[in-house]
Amino acid sequence: MSSLSGTSSAYPVNSNEHWALYNARQSERDVRATCRRAMELAGPGAGRTAVDLGCGAGRETRALLESGWRVTAFDGDPTMLSAVDQPHPALTARRLSFEQITELPDTDLIHAAYALPWQDRPHFDRLWTMIRSALRPGGWIAVDLFGVRDSWAGAPGMTFLTETEAKSLADGLTVEHWHEEDELGAASSGPKHWHVFQLIARRPT
Ligand SMILES: C[S@@+](CC[C@H](N)C(=O)[O-])C[C@H]1O[C@@H](n2cnc3c(N)ncnc32)[C@H](O)[C@@H]1O
Repeated sequence: MSSLSGTSSAYPVNSNEHWALYNARQSERDVRATCRRAMELAGPGAGRTAVDLGCGAGRETRALLESGWRVTAFDGDPTMLSAVDQPHPALTARRLSFEQITELPDTDLIHAAYALPWQDRPHFDRLWTMIRSALRPGGWIAVDLFGVRDSWAGAPGMTFLTETEAKSLADGLTVEHWHEEDELGAASSGPKHWHVFQLIARRPT
């Protein structure tokens, strides 16, 4: 992810132009760790349904499709799903901002890689309520969230969580994977401090 001015402390950009450039570089990279781990835990889709929120170019959407999931992918950017051959019989594309989503389809896996933080806290909470409602018994949530020690914390229109807040999102679910990254790392603009929670949780059957 790149920042506004290329310095580690600048706030990130949230614009169509920015995401078009970002998405153009995503199609051939490895599948992200949280998605990979969720697919290992949940097993092949075998026709089950998944939602990919903030799918971007669709690298993870493509992996889910290849693993037999039927995927509904959401993103606000016109370049969404540029890494996926379309039409695809198991793919539904919904070009909507998180703020425009009014409901999610009932689903067995809800995935969001580095996307949910790009909305303010009231919209984040609203969407999380929809995520919890849409999750079927036995279903999985696999998300990357930003923590309060991230370099970008405080950026307007974004959501950064304490560890307690992030863990409480899984109340009533079984946490199957939790990983906290809290260290200097690379962004496309240069080094930045990443404070990221990987959360994979399952709704009891
Ligand atoms: C950092 S990218 C991650 C994309 C993809 N999940 C990945 O891992 O490559 C964030 C994505 O969220 C989308 N996004 C940002 N804010 C959004 C919002 N408020 N509503 C819907 N999509 C949004 C952007 O268009 C972008 O595709």
